Amino acid sequence: MNSQQWIEKADRYIMTTYGRYPIVPVRGEGCRVWDADGKEYLDFLAGVAVNNLGHCHPRVVAALQQQAAKLIHCSNYYHIPSQIELAELLCSHSFADKAFFCNSGAEANEAAIKLARKYSRDTYGPERYEIITATESFHGRTMATVSATGQEKVQKFFDPLLHGFRHVPFDDAAALAAAVGPQTCAVMLEPIQGEGGVNVPSPDYFREVRRICDEHDLLLIFDEVQVGMGRTGKLFAYEHFGVTPDIMTLAKALAGGAPIGTMLAREKYAAAFTPGTHGSTFGGNPLVTAAAVTTVRVMLEEGILNRTEEIGEYLLGELERLKEKYPFVMEVRGIGLMIGMVLTIPGADIVKQGHARGVLLNVTHDTVLRFVPPLVVTKHEIDRMIAILDGIFAEIKG
Ligand SMILES: Cc1ncc(COP(=O)(O)O)c(C=O)c1O
Repeated sequence: MNSQQWIEKADRYIMTTYGRYPIVPVRGEGCRVWDADGKEYLDFLAGVAVNNLGHCHPRVVAALQQQAAKLIHCSNYYHIPSQIELAELLCSHSFADKAFFCNSGAEANEAAIKLARKYSRDTYGPERYEIITATESFHGRTMATVSATGQEKVQKFFDPLLHGFRHVPFDDAAALAAAVGPQTCAVMLEPIQGEGGVNVPSPDYFREVRRICDEHDLLLIFDEVQVGMGRTGKLFAYEHFGVTPDIMTLAKALAGGAPIGTMLAREKYAAAFTPGTHGSTFGGNPLVTAAAVTTVRVMLEEGILNRTEEIGEYLLGELERLKEKYPFVMEVRGIGLMIGMVLTIPGADIVKQGHARGVLLNVTHDTVLRFVPPLVVTKHEIDRMIAILDGIFAEIKG
């Protein structure tokens, strides 16, 4: 079937939760994807920061194929070797002692919310349950994570929200300190806000947040669903900020495109989860964790992190050049390959123009073009994308 035929069938059978573009990708390799009509695109969205190793990395494909032929799923009633290996890999490369596995970012954050509440209830009693999060944050689409999210557009229509979340401005430690009360149990933040417009906090913000959390024995939860797994040039984004959290959530890029989520925690807090307090049928099953073990190994063994830092600087520099040229580009910001270009005009048409010219672009927060390509993107591919963007911008200019 061609793209148009697929789209007509989708209109008939798929719920309209997404404003989808008329593109039907059917194959991918590295930084490129092809649609059902054979048209090629350069992918600067990477499945929204998922395909960090590029599409169909051969080692991840082989891991999935081999595991699929051995055991796809059993149950968390039993021990799962690839899940255990993944937990060891993640813990030995982070602050964490223990891992819980689930299937998505929202579920990982649900687990973090439940663990923070359970620890605080066990330690201080039932009155201490509130979690402070940031305005413009994004933590997922389940009811608890919608309630945690600091964006009205995500929350509206779904009242009553879950009780027990308070929102304060991001990058404002004084506002956070003022919001802490006897009911507070945790603080949950993205190290860099993704959906909120690629918002990078000032260098001292997280040190101050950590100090506030320590002073009141609040759990510090970092949502690294979007910025973790090498996206910023470090395996985890918190490594840039000179602090460690108590809990960290990961998902998106962790299994090279297979659906997974995880919540990592220090032992002191992890111990609050006892048998029967939380779970997931598919969470950390043999197939996805085999893919994830290989994804993490590739990231550590193939020099991806250093490369991301270097190529990220190159992309940032090229985008800066466009900023000098076009007055409607206000700011370019980001770390590694998590880059936002803030415009004075809406970005939606630019994205559509990009599609027409063979590049998958993205806009978040209406006016921020977000660049989150596979970490294996080459300078040549960046040059091609920049030339296309330059052409689109030139037409806007008049
Ligand atoms: C920071 C952050 N947290 C949580 C989520 C939700 O993840 P998922 O869509 O896998 O549930 C996202 C998704 O974009 C995210 O960017």
